[in-house]
Amino acid sequence: MDRFEYREGNLFCEDSSVADIIGQVGTPVYIYSSQTFVEHYRKIASAFSPVNPIICYSIKCNSNIHICRMLAGEGSGFDIVSGGELFRAIQAGGDPAKMVYAGVGKTDSEINQALDAGIGWFNIESVAELENIQCITADRKIVTRAALRINPDIDPKTHRHTATGKKHSKFGVDIEEAESIIRKYAKHPFLQLTGVHIHIGSPINSAQPYIEAITKVLAVIESLRKDGFVIDTLDIGGGFGADYVTNQAPLAEDYAKEIIPLIKDRGFKNIILEPGRSIAANAGILVTRVLYIKESAGKKFAIVDAGMNDLIRPVLYDAFHFIWPVNVDEKYVPNNRSESFDMPGLVEYDVVGPICESGDCFAKARKLPELKRGDLLAIFSAGAYGFTMSSQYNSRPRVAEILVRQNLSKLIRRRETYQDLISAELLG
Ligand code: LLP
Repeated sequence: MDRFEYREGNLFCEDSSVADIIGQVGTPVYIYSSQTFVEHYRKIASAFSPVNPIICYSIKCNSNIHICRMLAGEGSGFDIVSGGELFRAIQAGGDPAKMVYAGVGKTDSEINQALDAGIGWFNIESVAELENIQCITADRKIVTRAALRINPDIDPKTHRHTATGKKHSKFGVDIEEAESIIRKYAKHPFLQLTGVHIHIGSPINSAQPYIEAITKVLAVIESLRKDGFVIDTLDIGGGFGADYVTNQAPLAEDYAKEIIPLIKDRGFKNIILEPGRSIAANAGILVTRVLYIKESAGKKFAIVDAGMNDLIRPVLYDAFHFIWPVNVDEKYVPNNRSESFDMPGLVEYDVVGPICESGDCFAKARKLPELKRGDLLAIFSAGAYGFTMSSQYNSRPRVAEILVRQNLSKLIRRRETYQDLISAELLG
């Protein structure tokens, strides 16, 4: 699942001691394992190899340029949703021809940047956007490819904030209307509407919703093909689960063995996947230090130096992240990561940050070895949607990021300074 493990009671990332890294960079800090990133990427690539997929890493989940560069080196393309992500992906050495550009609100300037770069596909989310991109490509006389994002009206059984493929969500076009849209707009001299895209939500801890969604869009595709329309690209989006809890997510091969029979030999030239979380989540931890232990009204709080501005997932999605001290007595080495993890001698804490909001809480009534001021805590599975969703709220400089390769650790983003907090504000 990842390369974070306890050796004699001390947490290691690959062959690097987490406490040693903290000794150099302080807390809070994100620490990533390069091997975990690469292994997760390779598992997906190998599981789906029978359909020779274009894997477009979803850069929004962890966009540090060093990480993107590493994945581009593995052959990954990128799933992007903004001009900024396009810029990053290109800076990281990504091949624009292996990029897909989704998002309901692409601006003209972003569309032009993507055309200039030679983007692989626009994943189009509405008729209005389709007409706009047709105008822009015609004006500029640039031929480009697009996939229509279809909302298949599937319940991916995930948090309401991250379900995207249900009727009435803002994403894609209604499946009832998709066929007539392609019939009407496919014959354009510059915008080749030859693909279909779905992304139904995240995380999806079973292959079933994919099967349902793909089956529905295949029916649309077959009907179009009967009348001579060319649909040569199927992009099934991202959303594969990650192990926030031990063995929570299916393996890449579990998804693959159900999905591949449905899409192989169906006449697609390009099969695209857009995994993010399944590659990045377990490749990173957020390490924080206990500032104070506070007892109040019969409860114990561990007040730590990371806050919801550094990792917003617990408050935004009620997300569970396993938390454990970086250094423990050997009898407290956890043998799995789960919400109900328990062993004799643990003490219940609310693990909370310093932000002035009561939502600033990483865990409620969490059983942990007894904590004291100065202890380090690792918040696991924080490599996806951790740093990228962080902010400077409460004027807190964003934290540093470290990338580990075996026994080497490299600072890949420095901790921001107070000066960084005001550097974009025009003073005077
Ligand atoms: N493709 C599209 C079009 C997407 O919108 C997303 C994620 C992905 C691919 C990648 O999904 P993944 O493989 O990472 O599940 N902030 C939330 C997750 C938001 C997902 C947004 N879209 C979280 O922390 O759980």
